[in-house]
Amino acid sequence: GAPVKADISKLEVGQQMIVEWRGQPVWVVRRSKQTVADLSKLDDQLADPSSAVEQQPTYAQNEYRSINPEIAVLLGICTHLGCSPTYRPEIAPEDLGEKWLGGFLCPCHGSRFDLAGRVYKGVPAPTNLVVPPHRFIDDSVIEVG
Ligand code: FES
Repeated sequence: GAPVKADISKLEVGQQMIVEWRGQPVWVVRRSKQTVADLSKLDDQLADPSSAVEQQPTYAQNEYRSINPEIAVLLGICTHLGCSPTYRPEIAPEDLGEKWLGGFLCPCHGSRFDLAGRVYKGVPAPTNLVVPPHRFIDDSVIEVG
């Protein structure tokens, strides 16, 4: 499939946009500075907090899993059996209560991921979400693929 471009100039803090690439959803989320700062607080709840498993290009193998810490780019496909998780920036799953700092919930078997697409421990999904290959054309346009 050909690369696709996403214009993120109107994407506000906390918003998600979805672009289609190779017939699959790719999410772009503009994370707040607070969200970026909070990512490291979750490490002990996550299965692979440092992204040791190669689910991302090397340029996104960092604590944010991204090029620009405030812009997350993730393949919106659960690594369990391929459902598409739901963006849940605020409303926590019941058993996580106040500890939920936002992320994605899979409707099929309950896997959960943080706002960097990192999988929580103890859920069916075996790995973090994939970060697809992408680059910044300029400050407001991303090319995926
Ligand atoms: Fe997402 Fe099973 S497909 S938890």
